[in-house]
Amino acid sequence: MPVSESFAARLAPIIGDLAETCGTPFHIYDAAGMLATHRAMVAAFGDWPFRQYFAVKALPNPAVLSRLLAAGSGLDCSSPVELQLARAVGARGEQVVFTSNNTVAEEYAAARIAGALITFDDPAHLARAEHLPEVVAFRVAPHGAAAGSTLMGGAGQSKFGVPRGQLVVAYRQAQARGATRFGIHGMTCANERDAGAAIRAARDLVAAAAEVAEALGIAFDYVNFGGGLGIPYRPGEAAFDFPAYAAATREMLSAAFPGSRPRVLMECGRYVTGPHGVLVARVVNRMAKERQIVGLDASMSALMRPGFYRGAYHHITLPFVALGGRAPVTVDVVGSLCENIDRFAVDRSLPDPRVGDLVYIHDTGAHGHAMGFTYNGRLRPAELLLTEAGEVLEIRRAETFADYTGTLRWDPVAVGPALHETSPIPAAGA
Ligand SMILES: Cc1ncc(COP(=O)(O)O)c(C=O)c1O
Repeated sequence: MPVSESFAARLAPIIGDLAETCGTPFHIYDAAGMLATHRAMVAAFGDWPFRQYFAVKALPNPAVLSRLLAAGSGLDCSSPVELQLARAVGARGEQVVFTSNNTVAEEYAAARIAGALITFDDPAHLARAEHLPEVVAFRVAPHGAAAGSTLMGGAGQSKFGVPRGQLVVAYRQAQARGATRFGIHGMTCANERDAGAAIRAARDLVAAAAEVAEALGIAFDYVNFGGGLGIPYRPGEAAFDFPAYAAATREMLSAAFPGSRPRVLMECGRYVTGPHGVLVARVVNRMAKERQIVGLDASMSALMRPGFYRGAYHHITLPFVALGGRAPVTVDVVGSLCENIDRFAVDRSLPDPRVGDLVYIHDTGAHGHAMGFTYNGRLRPAELLLTEAGEVLEIRRAETFADYTGTLRWDPVAVGPALHETSPIPAAGA
């Protein structure tokens, strides 16, 4: 959807100069908007123990992470490098959740030593852990209302989590190893805007937790509902009703666990920062082929979602073209990669874009820059942050040739034993 009116209004007087001085493309994020979303989530849970752990993978930039941390958010990490980043911005102990997939024992050990809350993706992972964390949590495979998501896969095909039917056994194994405190995790939805659907999926997770609690006589310290709350990418789409979701969650937990108040954890990324970012690019080519093509100076290396997920929509506007100022034309908006899927929009009606126009691609605040790559030597752009005080900070510079080639061995280094030292090289024709 279009950026918030407030962000657009604060960008309007500065964006032209910024584009001139910084050069396009770049992502720019609205710190005030992100923090407001975080605070609204916390407020919705009222006095129920609740912590939102921002999914680092969505926007792994210290300037954003440290602001969220200072506002009381935790950080959800999915790899050792994300754990390092969380530590670097000052997150300690239970300010960090480690929810990963296909993970080796050393990574769980690193998370345990950091004091993070750990989600085990599979009982085999727990079995290989030399020491147990203080609280043992398993991720439940998508089931019930969460099953069938194309992003996560249903219980049968998903690579994520413990199938519901195996949960009791998994927790029993943890008990047998001496675990006394427990959590449970379910990534109950993916980019879900319908609070009703998210509530149904949350209910299934709570039912699974209640079943395990009863079977084993344990109490859960926390229920982690994961991330996956959606945002309205298209104009006119309704926003996720978070207050309704929070109220329903409180209610279902009270009913399932009378007399106790398991903490609610969430790991939202997209919902917190997604709408508060814009990719700013410039039109560099206008072509009439069988289709009308608008070529930008940004490529999917800066935002891969439209190319990666079929039908994924990002709203596009031309901030300096007055409404009704130019006749609308149906165009494809493309980048420069040697890939036909490098299109930010297909069959999009825009006010006749011209070379030199600035373009906003909306909702790039989560899984945008972070999913970028450098294929074709089209390097990742800068990230800017509009601070709460109205200052614009460069929080990541644009990549350069030196970054692109930084890991190369221009003078190749011999590694390991040479083949001829281990076995004779067969003669030619042998
Ligand atoms: C385990 C887990 N938690 C949280 C997230 C964040 O998802 P979102 O940004 O859609 O909220 C993801 C996304 O891949 C995830 O896999």
